[in-house]
Amino acid sequence: MSFTDKVFTLNDGSTVPVIGYGTYNEEFADNLRPIREAIEAGYRFFDSASLYETEKYLGTAIKESGIPREDFIVETKLWIDEMGKDGVRKAFEKSLKRLQMDYVDIYMIHWPRQTGAMDEDWKKLDIETYSEMEKLVREGKVRRLGLSNFLPHHLNNILENCEIKPVVDQLEFHPGYSQEAAVAFCMENNIRPIAWSPLGRGRENAIIGNAILGKLAEKYGKSIQQINLRFAIEKGVLPIPKATSREHILANLEIFDFELTRDEVWMLSAMPQNTWLGEHPDFDIPSKKSNPDNI
Ligand SMILES: NC(=O)c1ccc[n+]([C@@H]2O[C@H](COP(=O)([O-])OP(=O)(O)OC[C@H]3O[C@@H](n4cnc5c(N)ncnc54)[C@H](OP(=O)(O)O)[C@@H]3O)[C@@H](O)[C@H]2O)c1
Repeated sequence: MSFTDKVFTLNDGSTVPVIGYGTYNEEFADNLRPIREAIEAGYRFFDSASLYETEKYLGTAIKESGIPREDFIVETKLWIDEMGKDGVRKAFEKSLKRLQMDYVDIYMIHWPRQTGAMDEDWKKLDIETYSEMEKLVREGKVRRLGLSNFLPHHLNNILENCEIKPVVDQLEFHPGYSQEAAVAFCMENNIRPIAWSPLGRGRENAIIGNAILGKLAEKYGKSIQQINLRFAIEKGVLPIPKATSREHILANLEIFDFELTRDEVWMLSAMPQNTWLGEHPDFDIPSKKSNPDNI
């Protein structure tokens, strides 16, 4: 059985590979090469966003691969400044053009709020944005809808007010920041959590130098990063690691020949909080703007 046979089922009955590839790649100019290598390695689930400016590379790499479009799951997201009744369609058409595709598999709201914690209008904004995205599903341009950085109160607003259930919610998730409340809410509502920064971006000491992770890596003859990925999958969370080195792209798929015990998963779930990236969906709205030249 190859790793591509390992799947999670989504709430619409469709299946997706249990691991994907993240294309957020700030520090790396040559985005096409790693995506090409990821496709060659066998990844078929790709995460993107208008903010990342990698949609064009992803689209080109998929087109050039010669592999049928239907074999891929492509997700992309609209950014904070693209939300709202008038923003969605414009943002989506631009994403589709950059992706060079005629549909997107999972279209997501990147962040639940445009402004800070005292803003009460976020509920209305999310509903308006999501309702516009539902129209894209009805028109056949989007297969499924998803959310990103939505905590239980944000998710519940969508579930109570919208018609098409989101299939996924993307959350920062790794040992030391496994967002148990948000993951539990997703599981109770049959929404698949996706782990962004599943490797904690490789931050020193907390992840790399962590004693528990080090011990497990030694026990299973794996790297700490491979333990992190296994942890996500065993929690039912789909990790989308980003790797630009060929070695890492391949290593992140070599995680299906061992299993963590139930106790080990609990231990990692209860690790002291660390390596949180520091952006809280309600309190730390990213100040980045989408790039008007990204066309
Ligand atoms: N929804 C959101 O708000 C949001 C936010 C952040 C990220 N994301 C998504 O999540 C994806 C992944 O998150 P991330 O990029 O922040 O961080 P990450 O996947 O946790 O970590 C990436 C880092 O880990 C290294 N790495 C990868 N595999 C490794 C291995 N086997 N051994 C050692 N090091 C390894 C990479 O190095 P090399 O590149 O040198 O190989 C890179 O420095 C993003 O690309 C993006 O698609 C979403």
